[in-house]
Amino acid sequence: MIRFEHVSKSYGDTLVLDDLHLDIGTGEFTVFIGPSGCGKTTTLKTINRLIEPDKGKVYIDGKDISQTDKVKLRRSIGYVIQQIGLFPNMTVEENIAVVPRLLKYSKEKSGQIVRELLELVNMPYEEYARKYPSEMSGGQQQRIGVLRALAASPPIVLMDEPFGALDPMTRAILQEEISRLQKKLNKTIVFVTHDMDEALNLADKIVFMNQGKVVQVAAPEEMLENPADDLIRSFMGKRARENEALPQTASDFIRTNVSVTYKNRGIREAVELMARRKVDTLLVKNLDDTYAGIVSIADIRRLGRDLKTIEPLVSRDNPMSYADEDAQECFAKLLSSNESYVVVLNHDQTIAGIVTKTSVAKSLADAVWGETS
Ligand SMILES: Nc1ncnc2c1ncn2[C@@H]1O[C@H](COP(=O)(O)OP(=O)(O)O)[C@@H](O)[C@H]1O
Ligand SMILES: [Mg+2]
Repeated sequence: MIRFEHVSKSYGDTLVLDDLHLDIGTGEFTVFIGPSGCGKTTTLKTINRLIEPDKGKVYIDGKDISQTDKVKLRRSIGYVIQQIGLFPNMTVEENIAVVPRLLKYSKEKSGQIVRELLELVNMPYEEYARKYPSEMSGGQQQRIGVLRALAASPPIVLMDEPFGALDPMTRAILQEEISRLQKKLNKTIVFVTHDMDEALNLADKIVFMNQGKVVQVAAPEEMLENPADDLIRSFMGKRARENEALPQTASDFIRTNVSVTYKNRGIREAVELMARRKVDTLLVKNLDDTYAGIVSIADIRRLGRDLKTIEPLVSRDNPMSYADEDAQECFAKLLSSNESYVVVLNHDQTIAGIVTKTSVAKSLADAVWGETS
């Protein structure tokens, strides 16, 4: 257990931590949240003694940490920050093994640890161990940062806005992973965020701070139901509004079970496919899987008699849209055309799916009557 007892810290005249009093349970996932500058990072850093309080004490498992050797203390506490801080000139394996090597683990033991940790996040050793940070995405780098913090099996891991610089998708994936890792490895995790969704997602317990004080400590559902004051309520409210305002994109409305063929296929094959699927058009791809256009049964009947392949009949009359395009724009294209669907493409020009008039109608119905399905 981590215990803060009357912990205060000032910079000049500014009281940054104001008589902090708090217990953090062993094996719990505790998330600190609060407005910028309220003292979250400072609180975290008093746990590994990157910051020493002016007054009060921090205990870990009953021991006053100001009496513990700093270097030893820090090696028993993993630390992950937003600015990934991987060493660019070291491979993934060397980065993860930094602390085990400092602790003089053998090469074999370090190697084994690296292998097991990479496995935990589905990054195969053979594929990733020899890579350099610059060869990986931001999300993968941050994963390695997390693994590095876990490498010496510290019972406590401190994480200061570790996913703050990642895009929402990657962030959601890493939240899921850290949640799984914590349950599996049974760590005490102290996590800082300013994102209420992240806090609600991850926390066993949320600690809400303001102006150097703890305002409320509660489980997520409890904080949602009974926020202690207006500031906390507004944090919750902001979250709800942000969710509502999320703009919808074409990809939210696509149908992906569409009938597709290649442009070098025979007329007859195309006709049979249409009959089987009971459709009157097919999407057509180039051989590299990029979108070529569509072919319709009407055109085949009219012009296909002497043709070998469908290629000469492929047209690009249907409106097109990208998957991340605003849904309203996509609908507008459809409604102003005479076609019955929009072809939605990924940015590499492969086909994501189609948006049909039915999708538009359903979305309008949802907007008017609320979710209809
Ligand atoms: N080294 C420092 N010198 C002076 N003021 C500092 C220093 N570090 C932090 N502060 C101030 O302490 C307050 C709390 O900072 P911090 O713990 O980083 O907040 P949070 O992580 O909640 O955004 C802020 O007002 C910040 O400006
Ligand atoms: Mg901070």
